[in-house]
Amino acid sequence: MFEKLINYTSGSVYPFHIPGHKRNSEMLGKSLPYNFDITEINDFDYLHDAKGIILEVHRKAEKLYNCKNSFMLVNGSTCGILAAIRAITNFGDKVLVARNCHKSVYNAIELNGLIPVYIHPEYNGEFNLHTVIDPENVRKELSRNKDVKAVILTSPTYEGFVSDIEEIARISHSFNVPVFVDEAHGAHLGLSEYFPQEAVALGADIAVLGLHKTLPALTQCALLNVNSNLININKLNEQLSVFETSSPSYILMSSMDKCFELLLNDKDKLFNIYYNNLIAFYNEVKNLKHLKVYLKNDVFFDFGKIIISTLNTNITGLELSEILRNEYNIELEMSYDSYCIAMTSICDKQEGFKMLSNALIRIDKDLISNKNCKIFKTDLSIPEMKIIPSQTRIMKGEIISLNNSIGKISLEYIFAYPPGIPIIIPGEIISDEVINKIKNLQKSGINLKTSNVPINEGIFISSDPL
Ligand SMILES: Cc1ncc(COP(=O)(O)O)c(C=O)c1O
Repeated sequence: MFEKLINYTSGSVYPFHIPGHKRNSEMLGKSLPYNFDITEINDFDYLHDAKGIILEVHRKAEKLYNCKNSFMLVNGSTCGILAAIRAITNFGDKVLVARNCHKSVYNAIELNGLIPVYIHPEYNGEFNLHTVIDPENVRKELSRNKDVKAVILTSPTYEGFVSDIEEIARISHSFNVPVFVDEAHGAHLGLSEYFPQEAVALGADIAVLGLHKTLPALTQCALLNVNSNLININKLNEQLSVFETSSPSYILMSSMDKCFELLLNDKDKLFNIYYNNLIAFYNEVKNLKHLKVYLKNDVFFDFGKIIISTLNTNITGLELSEILRNEYNIELEMSYDSYCIAMTSICDKQEGFKMLSNALIRIDKDLISNKNCKIFKTDLSIPEMKIIPSQTRIMKGEIISLNNSIGKISLEYIFAYPPGIPIIIPGEIISDEVINKIKNLQKSGINLKTSNVPINEGIFISSDPL
């Protein structure tokens, strides 16, 4: 695809077609790739009915991940998540959902009028973060809710924790229920012996992989992998055309083509170098006195995610990321009150890992331990759901202060962003635990995202009688 794109755009055909920039880099300059930017034109195939060069790229992805069907996505993992959930459920179905899912999963639940039954992920107190979904909880909920039509979970999590997909799929299939995995952070899994397996290879029916997050593909590139007879491919195609643009970027798709080519040819070499860089990094930081770097080299953790805990020190995760930014020229992926995450990939350089380990060693020397440091546990019980999210759309609402909202029905999503796990969802009862959590997160400077009114103005609640 990439070669065809270059040949076409460097040829002499005059473009009386979109895009409107007409690849006129004489007029628009060369700093953006106008000269390569086309969408579906003659002989370039159709993303939503792939039969030519797009199908060829899909075949490369199927070979790379060893699965039945792959579909390139140009609108991020988000569009794949919306389409996949809509394709595996009917309007109003009940679904089993990990509570630490991304907001796109909650949007899919709302759009398809689904009834969510939540499973809480496990909690690691030492690092104050959520980890995996316990397969036994999946079994318990499926036994209790015989009408569940799909299991939906995120693995790896934002922090890199990988659930036992093989066991979860085995249990779910024994109830004849398909498993959808949001693998937005796991496109690099299964491509080398050093990392956990990819979800569909372990028995998940369908998974979305965020190519742009952990592999060399341009921002917004993602992939939908299917490996199961439980998935209706026609329905999936139909839903992809609902949620994905009808003008796909060939720059984005070519970047996926190049990514698959690179991995099919060189993945062993690239992952070996990556692995060695990671091992060297973890060795460098293993003797830190105050900061703690998470390491568990097993199939339930993606050790390409570097989690740096500031618990029991005199700084927060947010402060650590600021020190790294301002004093060491290092920008991290995310920071929370008690930890930060550095994202890595096969494209990282040895110097990059060295920069980070040197910086952490130096910062660590100046820290003092603080066993009494206040931590706001990220753990939170799931609030009671009074009304399913989609039905709250027709309810009347009003804005009230946080203090007065306890016991009311929220019409608002409130997320700590990152990591983006909802604290409350429309239709749930606001508890004092929820309000305490919000206040504590505000105090520690965490960015709280709401779907309706800014949190400092109050909270949007239902004014309909309970
Ligand atoms: C777990 C998870 N799922 C899905 C998404 C959405 O991915 P995208 O931004 O590619 O649409 C994200 C984004 O951060 C994510 O963290």
